[in-house]
Amino acid sequence: MIRTILTYPNPLLKKKSAPVTVITEATRELVRDMVETMYDAPGVGLAAPQIGVLQRVIVIDISGKNEPPELIVAINPVIVHAEGEAYEEEGCLSVPDYAANVKRHAAVIVKALDLDGAERTWHAEELLAIAFQHEIDHLEGILFVDHLSALKREIFQRKARKAAEEKR
Ligand code: NI
Repeated sequence: MIRTILTYPNPLLKKKSAPVTVITEATRELVRDMVETMYDAPGVGLAAPQIGVLQRVIVIDISGKNEPPELIVAINPVIVHAEGEAYEEEGCLSVPDYAANVKRHAAVIVKALDLDGAERTWHAEELLAIAFQHEIDHLEGILFVDHLSALKREIFQRKARKAAEEKR
C-alpha cells in the first residue's frame, strides 16, 4: 500500500525512532509499504518515520529507472565506519522542492539486519554512502536541511514558510 509521505515541518520527522526488537509480519508489511511508496514517489530511499512509523527501518534503491532494481532493506542500521568527505546535492521526499549540497562521509560501512533477521554488511561509496547517511539521519530525527549553515537554513525556512502560506 502506498503511504502518505510526511513533509517538513511535521513534528514526527524530528523524533528519534526505536529499534525493531522482533521482526514480525507487521515489519514485513511495513517494508512492503515503504518499498512501494519509495518507487511510487519516486525516490532513492525512504525511512520509516517519513511515513509516520517511528521504527529503525530504511529502504534504499539508487539504481534509477534504467537499471534493474537493487533494493536494500536495512533494519536497525548502524554506521560502523566512515571515512572521506563528500559534498553532493541532496533532496528528500519529506522536503519537496528543495535541494542543497551537504557535507557527508564519502564511504561508510553499515551493519543492519535484513527481513530474515540475518546480519548484513554493506561497504558503501559515493551515492550509496550518502543515501545510507541520509536515511539513517531520518531515524535520529535529522533532515538534510539540519546540516546546512545557519544562513542557508534560514533561507530554506523562509522559503518553506512562504510555500506553506501560498498553499493556504
Ligand atoms: Ni530524506
